[in-house]
Amino acid sequence: MRLINIDDYNPIFMQLARPVFDRQRRVLLAAGRTIHPVYLERLESIGVRYLLVEDALSEGISMDEIVDATTWIAAIEIIQKAFQDVAQKGNLPIITLQKLVSNLVEEVSKRKAIILFPTTSLAEDLREYAHAVNVALLSLHLANKKQIPPNQLKDVGMGALLHDIGNAIKVSDAGHPLVGFNFLRNIREISLLSAHMAYQHHEKVDGTGFPRGIAEDQIHEFAQICSIANMYDNLLSSQEMPPHEVMEYIMTKAGTDFSMELVQLFVEVVPSYIPGTRVIMNNGREAIITKIKGSMQRPYIRFIESGEEVSLVSNPTLLIKEVLQKG
Ligand SMILES: [Fe+2]
Ligand SMILES: [Fe+2]
Repeated sequence: MRLINIDDYNPIFMQLARPVFDRQRRVLLAAGRTIHPVYLERLESIGVRYLLVEDALSEGISMDEIVDATTWIAAIEIIQKAFQDVAQKGNLPIITLQKLVSNLVEEVSKRKAIILFPTTSLAEDLREYAHAVNVALLSLHLANKKQIPPNQLKDVGMGALLHDIGNAIKVSDAGHPLVGFNFLRNIREISLLSAHMAYQHHEKVDGTGFPRGIAEDQIHEFAQICSIANMYDNLLSSQEMPPHEVMEYIMTKAGTDFSMELVQLFVEVVPSYIPGTRVIMNNGREAIITKIKGSMQRPYIRFIESGEEVSLVSNPTLLIKEVLQKG
């Protein structure tokens, strides 16, 4: 399967690899189907920008790094409910959230890498909640790789899911970290560390962030993790930036927004190229990324014309020169 821009969808050659959901999170189009032009227009009208498809090019490409559609959408539903409960009743569905966190910890632990599905593959109304889930998935992956002990992974997961909960309570944009913190710290079942992730996720190591402008080690490790995951998903989803550009952008923020060590870890454990991406190599040949194995930055590729698959780790002189548009 591979991820494509909806503009590049071709019903003659492509089938859906994952279901498409409507605003109410109901299956609008099932996996395995082709999309009728009428539906395609409807998808565009609700703001869907990306699709996962199967076609001749995507043969043999699997994306085990992406959490499956049902788990993802179920998580989004729980977060939507949590945000609504906070907005309307001022409380959180704690037990449901705790179960979700356990599930996500397990989902992330069994994968070598995590590839996020852009929230722009969903109707616009759901993106805020999908963002929370994406930030949690990536935060948990980083926390895992940082060898944060299992009992604390739950705090990371909960804090990341609720990092923007302040937005559910009416405030100005700049006020959401403090409002979220004050709300979370008064809930007995929520760890103070999770609450601090909401408080500190817009702080920067050079002290230019908000709300307090704290710096370096004053920002808790978990909040730094949440902060980098937050930026990653914002660029990937809201800005529609391709993953390799997001990675480069994040690297430019080492020492200003994030600590050097954290960015270094990020580069080691998050892939720049997603399987299914079409590229041009430095020998001028066109290829497609097939799998991430071993190195995150040096995946396996398959040359389009010859069908030959090679590892970029074993072929150090082969370089990705250009990423072609997702289609
Ligand atoms: Fe935020
Ligand atoms: Fe956020």
